[in-house]
Amino acid sequence: MKKLLIALLLLPNVSTIAGELNVDSRQIVEMPEEMKSMFLKNMRGHMESLDLIIAALAKNDLSEAAAVAEAGMGAGHGKKRQCEDDHAGKHKHKHEQSSHKAKGFGKFMPKEMKMMGMQLHIAANEFADVAREGDMGEAYKSLRSISATCVACHQSFQVK
Ligand code: HEC
Repeated sequence: MKKLLIALLLLPNVSTIAGELNVDSRQIVEMPEEMKSMFLKNMRGHMESLDLIIAALAKNDLSEAAAVAEAGMGAGHGKKRQCEDDHAGKHKHKHEQSSHKAKGFGKFMPKEMKMMGMQLHIAANEFADVAREGDMGEAYKSLRSISATCVACHQSFQVK
């Protein structure tokens, strides 16, 4: 999984260079309007989770940081594949508000984008494990794997 992350983090370099030349080379991902607004809402939820994680770290509460990461961005119930699937509605499960709503828009996402989405869930779960071990420095390092995944995907894709 470390290898996957490294590969993903190397990907956006091309768009970074293009960005400097003021060219937007992000891949356009088309979604129906309803899916797009669901997707962006999910994104705003991620932003909020990130904020709450930082807030928890700022008050030294590693276990709360872990809980927020799991609830807001984690794979949850060990069903890491759900975002990848397009059989929406097949698995009805408790966390309607969780990222697994992504099932709906997952099928519009190109493979690389799905992989980055999965990487976010994995990084969030890893962060929760690290945070629970209680070392603040390690927790920050691990948090950075989460934010780096946000950045990598944002540099690579846009939705229309
Ligand atoms: C799998 C790819 C992917 C990952 C991972 C990802 N994003 Fe996004 N995000 C996107 C795309 C694509 C957009 C739409 C950008 C556009 O069309 O210009 C977006 C948009 C957003 C928006 C704007 C929402 C709006 O209402 O317009 C926020 C905020 C955001 N992301 C936060 C985050 C945060 C925080 C993380 C990490 C915790 C994250 N995202 C991880 C792909 C991703």
